[in-house]
Amino acid sequence: MCGIIGYVGKKKNAIHVLINGLKALEYRGYDSAGIAYMENNKINIIKEQGKIKNLEEKIDFKIKSNLGIGHTRWATHGKPCVINSHPHKVGKITIVHNGIIENYEELKKILIQNGYSFKSETDTEVICALIDKLYNEKNDMIQVLDKCRNLLKGSYALGIINDDQPNTLYAIRKDSPLIIAIGENENYISSDVPAILDYTNKYILLDNNEIAKLTDSKIDIYNINNEIITKKIKTFEWNIEKTLKNGYDHFMLKEINEQPEVIKDTLLPYISNGYKSLLNNMPCFKNYEKIDIVACGSAYHAGLIGKYLIEKYADIPVNVEIASEYRYKKLFINNKTLVIIISQSGETADSLAALRKAKEHNIDTLAIVNVVGSSIAREAKDVLYIKAGCEIAVATTKAYSAQVAMLGLIALNIAKSKKKISNQKIDNFIQDIDTLINEMKKLLKNENYLKIAKNIYNKNNLFFIGRKIDYALAMEGSLKLKEISYIHSEAYPAGELKHGSISLIEEKTPVFAIVTDKSIAEKTISNIKEAKARGAEVILIITDELDREADFYDEKIVIPKINDLFQPLLSIIPLQLISYEVAKLRNCDIDKPRNLAKSVTVE
Ligand code: G6P
Repeated sequence: MCGIIGYVGKKKNAIHVLINGLKALEYRGYDSAGIAYMENNKINIIKEQGKIKNLEEKIDFKIKSNLGIGHTRWATHGKPCVINSHPHKVGKITIVHNGIIENYEELKKILIQNGYSFKSETDTEVICALIDKLYNEKNDMIQVLDKCRNLLKGSYALGIINDDQPNTLYAIRKDSPLIIAIGENENYISSDVPAILDYTNKYILLDNNEIAKLTDSKIDIYNINNEIITKKIKTFEWNIEKTLKNGYDHFMLKEINEQPEVIKDTLLPYISNGYKSLLNNMPCFKNYEKIDIVACGSAYHAGLIGKYLIEKYADIPVNVEIASEYRYKKLFINNKTLVIIISQSGETADSLAALRKAKEHNIDTLAIVNVVGSSIAREAKDVLYIKAGCEIAVATTKAYSAQVAMLGLIALNIAKSKKKISNQKIDNFIQDIDTLINEMKKLLKNENYLKIAKNIYNKNNLFFIGRKIDYALAMEGSLKLKEISYIHSEAYPAGELKHGSISLIEEKTPVFAIVTDKSIAEKTISNIKEAKARGAEVILIITDELDREADFYDEKIVIPKINDLFQPLLSIIPLQLISYEVAKLRNCDIDKPRNLAKSVTVE
């Protein structure tokens, strides 16, 4: 969601760096893009609605520049259009912004009284005018930005250029991500590492309220007291090849296919020595009597799977909540509660706010995160990293699976720490990992997905049903399809369909039915028959142990039975790949679906 890139240096042409960077940030989701670059001590701004290629068509790449900022905008204040796109310029100040300023209307009134006028509907133009006003009063950018951070309420990552300083780039952040990347005689700012990986893997994480001043040869970081501080230089581990498509048509397909490797990488560090490795490298779970899992989107769906696994094996209650609700609701927590926040990006604004709320209540927090060093990873008491690597497609697949795998591992650890599980049983699970990986690989190659996709890709409405853990899977399957193919679908607990929504089932309405849990399978099958009797076209996803020849389904995908902990990691693969094939048949922009952002850094 909104991407920022900035460059200062004489080695490269800023314009090229900005456009390359914006392309690498495309996955975050956007609806317009723009750049500002310094040419002969004068700022030029080019902006365009829609894709970056529209912007590229307006740029003269022969122009040389050594300073610039670029932005992909995901509209929050004001519709997507050229005027509302970033960069914005007021007086001597040009900026790009990611975040939301909550008091911008108040500030705007004051600025209008001071003679400023505004062209756009954005909160960003207000920040720009504010910095210009303060600069006219103080003439010292560090003092100006210091004052600014006291006046702005909300979240922001800002890249800033001042007409008076044609070789300097400023940045400041609060609650929106920004990194400072380090080159030789050149430096960068960026929302995320992929945008600068072509040039360097050395970077500094800018912390909340820090100000950065960058020239080609120097980076000064100022703390809240305006003192220059020394920051740790980090090295990014994911390599550039891993962020390329490697011959796949889409990042999503590549990422789905990476799942066996990702699951292995995520689990192995914790189980290398069988049950004896358990409880090592994990927080101590012994004293918790209740768990709240909080997340958004697919991470929330992973949390629902975690609930089934933890409740089943560790025998403690788990409450799973959507972060945007949790952050505003009354919490029933005490010092025996653990709050687990799940987030691929580690930057989701609502999940971060939920984490902070739990911390305000002095509750222990554990983050399950993919992006190393992200805000949620840094702020939680403990963090467990999944090893999904760089996920580019907006619709998550491999990170979701890795979250599910990590939650299974947590279930085992809690069960062990509470003496609810035998060592033998733990070892049985661990021994199944090789089978899991092999079966995942086989399922990835199943050829029936395209055939099923061809039957449903022109439908307008469909259902996903299941019970217990299969209902949690149905929710993720339904979301995947909606996200990338724009077909409306609903996930329902199979037993609930007849309490209303079955009225929507008509002749040939597709219903995906997931049946992997033996304890409830016959009940689900009764519900499938109810839908079938009303004309549903049933696509059954069933384990081999429950499979049967019958007339209550039209298409069937049989998946191998494995232990409960790993079963969801197999069951989700057909759902991901069918969604992918449907979206492809509908010519959708699979990696960058409309209106969506990979990392939702606003509330
Ligand atoms: C966005 C993405 C989803 C993701 C959700 C939570 O909506 O499009 O794929 O599941 O955010 O993101 P997080 O980074 O916190 O896992």
